[in-house]
Amino acid sequence: MQKIIVTGGVGYIGSHTLVDLIQNGYDVVSIDNLSRSSVKILHGVEKITGRKVKNYEVDLTDKARLSKVFEENQDAKGIIHFAAYKSVSESVEKPLLYYRNNMEGLYNILECIIQYNIPNIVFSSSCSVYGMVEKLPVTEETPFGEAQCAYARSKQHGEQVLTDVTKAHSFKTVLLRYFNPVGAHSSAEIGELPIGTPNNLAPFITQTAIGKREKLTVFGSDYPTRDGSCIRDYIHVSDIAQAHTLAMNYLIAREHFDIPEVFNLGTGNGVSVFEAIKAFEESTGQKLNYEVGSRRSGDVIAVYANNTKAKETLGWKLKYNLHDMMKSAWEWELKQQNS
Ligand code: UD1
Repeated sequence: MQKIIVTGGVGYIGSHTLVDLIQNGYDVVSIDNLSRSSVKILHGVEKITGRKVKNYEVDLTDKARLSKVFEENQDAKGIIHFAAYKSVSESVEKPLLYYRNNMEGLYNILECIIQYNIPNIVFSSSCSVYGMVEKLPVTEETPFGEAQCAYARSKQHGEQVLTDVTKAHSFKTVLLRYFNPVGAHSSAEIGELPIGTPNNLAPFITQTAIGKREKLTVFGSDYPTRDGSCIRDYIHVSDIAQAHTLAMNYLIAREHFDIPEVFNLGTGNGVSVFEAIKAFEESTGQKLNYEVGSRRSGDVIAVYANNTKAKETLGWKLKYNLHDMMKSAWEWELKQQNS
């Protein structure tokens, strides 16, 4: 079995990817300091797959301990690097925290990859690298726009660093630009587990519907869009996870290449905040308490993907629609209430 190191394996996309890798014949180890995740998720992964997963509770900024993990796992065929902070609003308030954590983690990972000759890397990037886009949908050729927050800039910088370092060394790189992952595994054993008040729309919706939050605030209804709210490309987290396995298969099968391959991971459908709320209400039968508030700093007006490249090159096939995403997010919320 080929071994893959997954940083942030206990996180939201990381845990779904562990499941997908295991179910496609890979051996996995995770590195996750559990600072923004819970070991409960790892138990969920084990329940779904029937396999015990080793997690190294190591902070990526701790180079000495990180090196030891690589030394123990230098037989790995590849690494998928998820571990990073991801809140747009927090990054607006604490930009240095984002640069320090996301960049130092990446630099240390890259030094270890080079030292221990790990041949393949998949990097978690984001559609936020496109900034405020004018022409939609965005393709992988759409140039970087002005980053709207430190989180987005940390992803732009991460991609640039990987481009330079890949050119200079012998490993191969895929950059995956996620749009808006939502939903949970069909078993409801794993899902999004925000610590404290959620920043993202879907967990805020489900926590409001279940009564943990009083109401959802729609951030702005005066944007130049069809109903005045922002437009995003929501995509099921299990579809995103599947793309990581395919990207790893692709890297392993290919001869050396110098320039990272980039793929957009979105459905191609732009959905407004009001439409997302409606989809939640329709798919779950729940009525959501919401109000319209002011715009949120750092938000882009609209972004959605052209995903042709990932479909054609990686053989990526999307399985879930917006209703599936909302329904599975709700089932996960219900399951947590009952556990
Ligand atoms: C951003 C990034 C995305 C990244 C994600 C990580 C952009 C374009 N996208 O997603 O790449 O993966 O952060 O967290 O920068 N909303 C409300 N009320 C709420 C919460 C959200 O109206 O309580 C609205 C937001 O204004 C936005 C949409 O819902 O229009 C989605 O917001 P959110 O789930 O936070 O994700 P993004 O900020 O789009």
